[in-house]
Amino acid sequence: MEEGGYVILSHPEALRSILTAEVGALTVCNDVLGPVLGPGSLLRLDGAAHLRERRWLMPGFQHGAISGYGRLINDTLGRATKEWSMGTTFKAHDVLQDLSLAVILQIVFGRDEESRCSELKQGLVELLNDRRLGLGLLHRPDESGRMPALGTFWTQIEHIREVALARVRYARARFSGPDGTLLSFLLAATDETGARRTDEEVRDEVLTLLTTGHETTAAAISWGLYWLARNGEVLARLRAEIAQAPALDSAARTDEGGPYLDATCKEILRIYPIVPSLFRRVAGRPFQVAGRVFGPGTFLSPSIYLTHHREETYPEPDVFNPSRFLQQAFSPYEYLPFGGGSRRCVGMHLALYEMKLVLRELVRRFELELLTPGVAPTRRFVTMAPSGMQLRVARVLG
Ligand code: HEM
Repeated sequence: MEEGGYVILSHPEALRSILTAEVGALTVCNDVLGPVLGPGSLLRLDGAAHLRERRWLMPGFQHGAISGYGRLINDTLGRATKEWSMGTTFKAHDVLQDLSLAVILQIVFGRDEESRCSELKQGLVELLNDRRLGLGLLHRPDESGRMPALGTFWTQIEHIREVALARVRYARARFSGPDGTLLSFLLAATDETGARRTDEEVRDEVLTLLTTGHETTAAAISWGLYWLARNGEVLARLRAEIAQAPALDSAARTDEGGPYLDATCKEILRIYPIVPSLFRRVAGRPFQVAGRVFGPGTFLSPSIYLTHHREETYPEPDVFNPSRFLQQAFSPYEYLPFGGGSRRCVGMHLALYEMKLVLRELVRRFELELLTPGVAPTRRFVTMAPSGMQLRVARVLG
């Protein structure tokens, strides 16, 4: 048996063992997210509490609910690109971060509440763009869970958590039942004793949804613009598919698009997975993976990046080639940009839907030129994004 240590895995069978492990065999290791998201976050819960929390959230992420967000996404995109004309230059990640955050804020709080959430929105952007966030890794919390060593940055984190709590209390005071917003599902949820969740628990989940729900999607769409700007053939084929779709007014343009758009989005998430690695730790009993036994405390880290770049699964893995997804189906342990098993991303369908709507509209309306030649993946907290990438509107098409 191998004791302790940090093991990185990429073989699909090894990933299958980890992602289908019985409840309680492995614990999640997301302590680094603790200071911002708090103990009530889905990302930090394990076992029965984790499963229960997912059940509460699921109604807001089902197919029917998600297609209802199409209008909201289109309108928000329309607002974000209203001023764009030939020559407009923009930093892709900044624009898309603002867009995705505006979308998820409206999905969590409701369309009418967006203006009341401006302090929260601004504060979250500042927090997530601050390099000190990663320093949470280097500091241990004291007994009260605080990290005074982070100085003023810690005060900033506490302030945002207070602002989010005030929004939850405001909504609780006006709550009369589920109204389709994610927050209303959380406020309505009761445990087996009939007790509702505290404002602080709801706040932790709201912050989880707001951060995971925009940071990842913004990075995914930014990478999409990068790959499309660099691959003329892919872009031309996508344009042809979009042009074949019946003309629609903007309110109706909310379907999920054609097969080539689907394949393109899959390839974007394969080649640079936004969340490159997962983190688990062996809990109470030894755990077996691929014929080797790992003792309690061992870190097991499935690398989504390495799995997506296995030559035997993806020939020429560094080549951007959406057609591979038209020619072959991959198993959930060969292709897993959203993780898998009981912790698979709750926002997967929403993220894919938003990605498709936004990329399709941008491709349909603009010709974009890449101004930054050497874009390197940059680590942002737990995601990998093309930060700093600049684009220019070369032509307005429609
Ligand atoms: C392209 C966009 C996205 C990507 C690539 C992505 C990726 C992931 C991955 C890999 C995990 C698994 C983490 C693990 O197993 O430890 C995850 C979990 C999660 N994601 Fe996403 N995500 C995206 C969008 C979203 C959106 C839009 C939301 C919410 C609105 C969201 C909310 C969550 C939550 C709450 C979890 C925790 C699930 C759990 O632990 O049960 N994600 N995501």
